[in-house]
Amino acid sequence: MKETQDKRISSAVISRLPRYYRYLGELRESGVERISSNELSARMKVTASQIRQDLNNFGGFGQQGYGYNVAYLQQEIAKILGIDKTYNMIIVGAGNLGQAIAGYADFEKRGFVVKGIFDINPELTGTMIRGIQVRMAYEMKDFVRNNNIDIAALTIPKESAVEIASMLADAGIKAIWNFAHTDLNLPKEIVVENVHLSESLMKLSYNMANRLREEREEE
Ligand code: NAI
Repeated sequence: MKETQDKRISSAVISRLPRYYRYLGELRESGVERISSNELSARMKVTASQIRQDLNNFGGFGQQGYGYNVAYLQQEIAKILGIDKTYNMIIVGAGNLGQAIAGYADFEKRGFVVKGIFDINPELTGTMIRGIQVRMAYEMKDFVRNNNIDIAALTIPKESAVEIASMLADAGIKAIWNFAHTDLNLPKEIVVENVHLSESLMKLSYNMANRLREEREEE
């Protein structure tokens, strides 16, 4: 990769990288070793110039007349996304959402290894989800300290999320994948990714409303 590490990459570009990573993975699985930006563009329904521009942010990776080496490009994107290593993760809140996330084995393929699941409900003690035992929340701080936990997924009600997040920060967590509908007030070295499925649904609704408006205009 060339000189570009110190340059700020726009969040729009970053948000497209996981999709490139996924498509390149599918191409590898189907035995494709190299691909031109035009072919990649046709498959991904992104313009070839967009692909070239996006990847140029990181130094290119393509070769004139050859296109992209699929395995190499996927590896480089993995490095940029930081998924060329594994992360230890805990899930806080073993309710509907926490159990669904814990039950989804594919996160592990991307290097996110669920090491523990925590809840305050004593009835859940010892419940196993994909071979991982639900533990009680009071054990969490020591668990994070003793097991090199990098990431905590917060799938708890918003009322307790701020307090739990700051306890996790004290315990040395590096990042929080926050599903609770509240902003967390954490030191800036802790990376927070807020996830709101409802926002995605509102985007969908906007696009549906737009489609309707366009249809009316065409009439
Ligand atoms: P749920 O009620 O099924 O599960 C919540 C679990 O958290 C319960 O098992 C409860 O005992 C546990 N809990 C409560 N306080 C805790 C604490 N201090 N420490 C450890 N565990 C604790 O709820 P569900 O459906 O799983 O949703 C969880 C949260 O995620 C809710 O706040 C909900 O609003 C939010 N949510 C967010 C979504 C998003 O897209 N961001 C989508 C769906 C839910």
